Amino acid sequence: MPTLLSILGVNPLAMRIVADTRLVDAELEQLAQRAADPDLRRALHQLFASGGKRLRPALVLLAAHWGAYDRGRAVVAGAAMEMIHAASLIHDDIIDEAAMRRGRPTTNSLYGSKVAVLGGDYLFAAAAGAVASLNDVSLMASTASTIMSLCAGEINQSAHAFDWQISEADYFGYLEQKTASLTLLCCRAGAMVAQASEHVVEVLSEIGRNLGMAFQIVDDVLDLTSAPEELGKPTGHDLLEGMLTLPVIHLLQGPEGGDFRKQLHQGQAPDEQTIRCIVQAVRANGSIDYAYTVARRYMREVERLVAGLGNSDAGKTLVQVMHYAVERRS
Ligand code: IPE
Ligand code: IPE
Ligand code: MG
Ligand code: MG
Repeated sequence: MPTLLSILGVNPLAMRIVADTRLVDAELEQLAQRAADPDLRRALHQLFASGGKRLRPALVLLAAHWGAYDRGRAVVAGAAMEMIHAASLIHDDIIDEAAMRRGRPTTNSLYGSKVAVLGGDYLFAAAAGAVASLNDVSLMASTASTIMSLCAGEINQSAHAFDWQISEADYFGYLEQKTASLTLLCCRAGAMVAQASEHVVEVLSEIGRNLGMAFQIVDDVLDLTSAPEELGKPTGHDLLEGMLTLPVIHLLQGPEGGDFRKQLHQGQAPDEQTIRCIVQAVRANGSIDYAYTVARRYMREVERLVAGLGNSDAGKTLVQVMHYAVERRS
């Protein structure tokens, strides 16, 4: 797993942001220690200590540099966004029946789905409390609607599990809701806690949205191209769970897709042999390249939007994060 500093690029601003994410980590650990139930306390502690890039708090802290940087408020907002992220991961791992995350056993596999469901709920509520402490009704409303989007995106995607006919438009819709809504909120929250102008809040929101889209496209590509030890989960896991991602949609809908469509039965899990063939075919067919082309389109949009905000260290660092989102290998 890369360090946050390597993601942000080594520069003085990046170093300050990394230092401030340690304050975010301290908030998270305090939250874990305050949990009265020992299983919940341990589960939250293990989750926060298991690594994770802390990309979402870093986006909040970075965006807050476009206004009057208030470290205390930015750290609370950053912690709230990481709580929402962590809650969504705990619940996602229950839905996806995932045994490993960040190279370690998931909360559901360690404590069972009861603790995992309630732990996720606990984190969503804690995030709402943290945002409420910032006394900004508009940010509270954006946070509530983002959590609703996240849930809707996960429901939509799992309702279409093993539906091998979903289109690119359906896929982009899931991404918008389940991933880009939160990266949008991170950039928006950072700008808002720093009292940035309305224009800057809107542009940063759009930057966060584009970044989230590219990040999830590449995450989905890596599910097909990375070795399990690099990724902390098995290759082709999305297919096994019935999730169609951009390279596979491109393969199935292209001229080479006919044979694969015959092997994929509506409503049924593919067998291991089919998964292996698809994993090979998406490379040979140019479907991986296609997904990267789409991800790079989002990257160029972010570069354009950042340029419109003026040439600043925060802008350069944000572009660096975007490059990482697209070019990362794990
Ligand atoms: C994983 O996000 C979930 C997706 C949106 C793809 P990250 O890759 O940022 O997860 P951590 O926090 O670093 O583990
Ligand atoms: C991302 O979904 C998780 C959320 C946005 C809630 P995935 O199921 O694709 O993410 P990973 O691959 O488990 O991290
Ligand atoms: Mg998952
Ligand atoms: Mg999922």
